[in-house]
Amino acid sequence: MLKSAKIKDSALEITANQADFWVDWDEVISEQHLDKLANNGWIVLDDVFSNQALTALQEESGFIRYRAASLTSGIRQSQIRGDNIRWITKDCVAGSYYLQSIDELAALFNRDLFAGIRHSEAHFACYPAGFGYQWHSDNPLGRDERVISAVFYLNDDWTAADGGALEVVDLQNRLHCLTPLANRLVIFDSNLQHQVAIAHKKRYSIATWMRRDTLVPFVE
Ligand code: OGA
Ligand code: MN
Repeated sequence: MLKSAKIKDSALEITANQADFWVDWDEVISEQHLDKLANNGWIVLDDVFSNQALTALQEESGFIRYRAASLTSGIRQSQIRGDNIRWITKDCVAGSYYLQSIDELAALFNRDLFAGIRHSEAHFACYPAGFGYQWHSDNPLGRDERVISAVFYLNDDWTAADGGALEVVDLQNRLHCLTPLANRLVIFDSNLQHQVAIAHKKRYSIATWMRRDTLVPFVE
């Protein structure tokens, strides 16, 4: 009795169907998007996934909190970045479907931009109020495995006054401040400098990288 109750408590309660995560990337990504990504190094896509997919990701991230393992108990990073993270593994039902869809987007970038992407990785992230992530590129000095970064946002009802903007310096050296709106995917060259401004309330996202190296088994 006790044992099964425990199993039930710790079991994933996320209901998600792969079909809900299907995106017609050929339809979503226009010629203009591809030109902008190639020339300026970044694009923004809004209303990317279905409501069902968005809700499943919100649940799995802990943004909608009815499950024990939320990101408030994730792995805390250094002073430079204030987010708690949880890598997406096969145990993440919604997250795995999300990554499969991202792999299809990567295939489009390979076909149309010769991006040379071999696999993708992603983690849920939660920035507590009062935290951000200082200026950085997603490739540490001397590394170039990450080709394209994509950040997907999970907070309903986020406004500019809530802070937490993603600030990106593009290939033309122009600064852009992007509000982390739910169901928004910001895609950018992993070598661009960017930062997360201090968030004034808990900020949930999925940080995603499309990489040129071969898949290495995930080790926690
Ligand atoms: C990162 C990052 C941006 C964001 O996790 O490397 O830059 O908007 N995130 O969350
Ligand atoms: Mn980054």
